[in-house]
Amino acid sequence: MFDEIEFEKIKRLPKYVFAAINEIKLDMRRHNEDVIDFSMGNPDGKTPSHIIDKLCEAACKPKNHGYSASKGIYKLRLGICNWYKRKYNVDLDPNTEVCVSMGSKEGYVHLIQAITNPGDNAVVAEPAYPIHYYAFILNGANVARFGISWNEQMELHEDSFFQNLSRVLKEAMPKPKFVVVNFPHNPTTVIVYKSFYERLVAMAKKERFYIISDIAYADLCYDGYQTPSILEVEGAKDVAVETYTLSKSYNMAGWRIGFVLGNKKMIEALQKIKSWIDYGIYTPMQIAATIALDGPQECVEDIKEKYEKRMEVLIKSFKEAGWEMKKPKASMFIWAKIPPCVEHLGSLEFSKRLLKEAKIALSPGVGFGEHGEGYVRIALIENENRIRQAARNLKLFLKSFK
Ligand SMILES: Cc1ncc(COP(=O)(O)O)c(C=O)c1O
Repeated sequence: MFDEIEFEKIKRLPKYVFAAINEIKLDMRRHNEDVIDFSMGNPDGKTPSHIIDKLCEAACKPKNHGYSASKGIYKLRLGICNWYKRKYNVDLDPNTEVCVSMGSKEGYVHLIQAITNPGDNAVVAEPAYPIHYYAFILNGANVARFGISWNEQMELHEDSFFQNLSRVLKEAMPKPKFVVVNFPHNPTTVIVYKSFYERLVAMAKKERFYIISDIAYADLCYDGYQTPSILEVEGAKDVAVETYTLSKSYNMAGWRIGFVLGNKKMIEALQKIKSWIDYGIYTPMQIAATIALDGPQECVEDIKEKYEKRMEVLIKSFKEAGWEMKKPKASMFIWAKIPPCVEHLGSLEFSKRLLKEAKIALSPGVGFGEHGEGYVRIALIENENRIRQAARNLKLFLKSFK
């Protein structure tokens, strides 16, 4: 029906590579098979009780039931600024430099919608969290990509990053207006230090582009590593915004609450587009989110420790099963090279076979872009017993290839 009416924009989104894995997973579950699921970065833990209690208390007050503020209630925006001051020693204006969003993904997508003109170019390094480039594609823009590389400590090869970025900025036509960075990085877990942002901000000012920095995994760091904020760099607010989420640090993924902050011009654009599109997150959730940031932070430590323990159990038990991988410095993932005996399968086929034959679901690296080929991403969302079970299944699976 109405074949002549085409939905061109939506055609720019390809079929999700992960859909192939999800379909198999769902089919197996329908047949009552027990899949050990490391595929999605969906935290399995409970939101800390003091945050839930605040939500319930606020939900009992009728005055909180109406439309809220699309850019976030003042109390939360102020709480976010205070939190940034404590954590990164960055001063922000709650009125003009912060916008609350429905998770950081919504904030990011609407920001891109607000600031992108059709035909614009952006730069996103690969592999990448897919929406980082598809937000531009959806808005009629294009993305220039290059591959990132890293060392044994999962630190970014900074020089190579900047050489590639310079090259892309020279070659891409029209000249890119936006560069997206995401460290700790999903999917690779690669980290950077403040010196990286100093270089990036200096380059942005020289080459004239805006930076969007996603620090969704800022609080999940190990072995003494601390995630820096780009806004710690002097003058960064002239060219950069940062996106953050409560999904991972506070086990609040289903709540959909995050924020974008920094550069006034970009924040103003985001606040404006959101004022046209939505009426804000349910006020009791915003009040509870304020408590999450203002309240005790031991819960964040506990969440981080849980991932670290799982990481260690997985690395040890998978090694015994015949698959060696490195401990990341941050995030809730392990980015693992496919074992040599199954390398020939490629990441998608390996993931499919591992799922069907060993009942282990993970994300094929190619789903994050062609530079992710040869790797898979393991999300640490299963408990230690299930990880050990996965290792037993894995051992049998790998044996069949030797
Ligand atoms: C790098 C990165 N950014 C942003 C998000 C989105 O998080 P949310 O929308 O829950 O805040 C995710 C989710 O997995 C992510 O991995």
